[in-house]
Amino acid sequence: MTDKPLLRVLSGEPIWPPPIWLMRQAGRYLPEFRALRAQADFLTRCTTPDIATEITLQPIRRYAMDGAILFSDILILPWAMGQSLRFVDQVGPVLEPIRCYADLQRLRPERVAEVTAPIMETIGRLRRLLDAPADQASLGLGRAGATTLIGFAGSPFTVACYMVEGGGSKEFAATRTMAYAEPALFDRLIDLLTQATARMLCDQITAGAEAVMLFDSWAGLLPPPQFERHVIQPNRLIVEEIRRHHPGVPVVGFPRLGGWLVERYAAVTAVDALALDTATELDVVAGLVPPTVALQGNLDPLCLLAGGDGLVREAGRIRDALRGRPHVFNLGHGVLPQTPPEHVAALVEAVRRP
Ligand code: CP3
Repeated sequence: MTDKPLLRVLSGEPIWPPPIWLMRQAGRYLPEFRALRAQADFLTRCTTPDIATEITLQPIRRYAMDGAILFSDILILPWAMGQSLRFVDQVGPVLEPIRCYADLQRLRPERVAEVTAPIMETIGRLRRLLDAPADQASLGLGRAGATTLIGFAGSPFTVACYMVEGGGSKEFAATRTMAYAEPALFDRLIDLLTQATARMLCDQITAGAEAVMLFDSWAGLLPPPQFERHVIQPNRLIVEEIRRHHPGVPVVGFPRLGGWLVERYAAVTAVDALALDTATELDVVAGLVPPTVALQGNLDPLCLLAGGDGLVREAGRIRDALRGRPHVFNLGHGVLPQTPPEHVAALVEAVRRP
């Protein structure tokens, strides 16, 4: 039993008004984040418990969000396996691309636990701070024991996109070409990522994460047979592995832009919650997935950026559309860096209005 609203919703209980947190809630739109950003590069920030703990808590202090998502990145996993990774300003992530068996064989999945140990340390600290009433007051966190700590990973296909392409892209043409032209090689990469991701998420739960989310941001690039093979099946295996070791810990799946395929994704992966992108028609999805599956989403990040009456109206529409269902209010994708922090405050207030 738990009193945390987010965990209650993830276990299938409708709550009114719905709990709220935002993807990319810790980030460049916050002045206190930009101040810390100058101190260390991105990978150092992710792997230094003092810094990662502080950044994770920044949006909790400001907005008393119902969820605190670990400050880290989906590309920590390939980096921990030895793939070179840098984050370049105005460009994004840059990796040494994986294009053949020899590249794949250089990866060292057995190193992940050791390299990610500082991240597990961050998770342990966060959980203690969020749940300890004494620390809550001194940290300005407000509501003791009300915030759920969320761990996460990228799903195998989305992480493979960056690993093969060597960075971001609109189409991920090299990755998707490899999946067609060299299916055995691509399957090997997906299998390796499936196992490493399941293990890392189990480690996050052992360290103190109370729920975990799988980000499949590029799932919508795939036609149905490839969606089945590279999105649904690997995510199913990851959920199974988490259930085997940690029954009762909810898993949120985000097969972004999956369209109608989210019905099968939810049924086959058996995720506890389905995160919905901005393009999803809420009534339609509510009819496609069982009422015990929590739905998360799906305000347009640009509506949040724009703010004003339109923001309050749109937040109200989404909240009302899912009334009576287990619903976690969130965006359909991450907070944009140009978003005024006051707009986030206005959104939280609108969603929490009785
Ligand atoms: O949500 C959170 O606040 C938790 C932390 C988090 C980050 N990235 C921090 C980050 C999470 C959950 C992610 C997920 C992530 N990372 C995804 C999936 C979600 C999505 O947005 O589709 C993807 C595809 C990535 C890969 C990635 N990381 C890209 C493409 C970039 C560059 C673009 C950008 O936003 O800067 C990153 C860098 C990154 N990840 C930053 C942050 C705060 C910016 C780094 C900086 O401070 O410069």
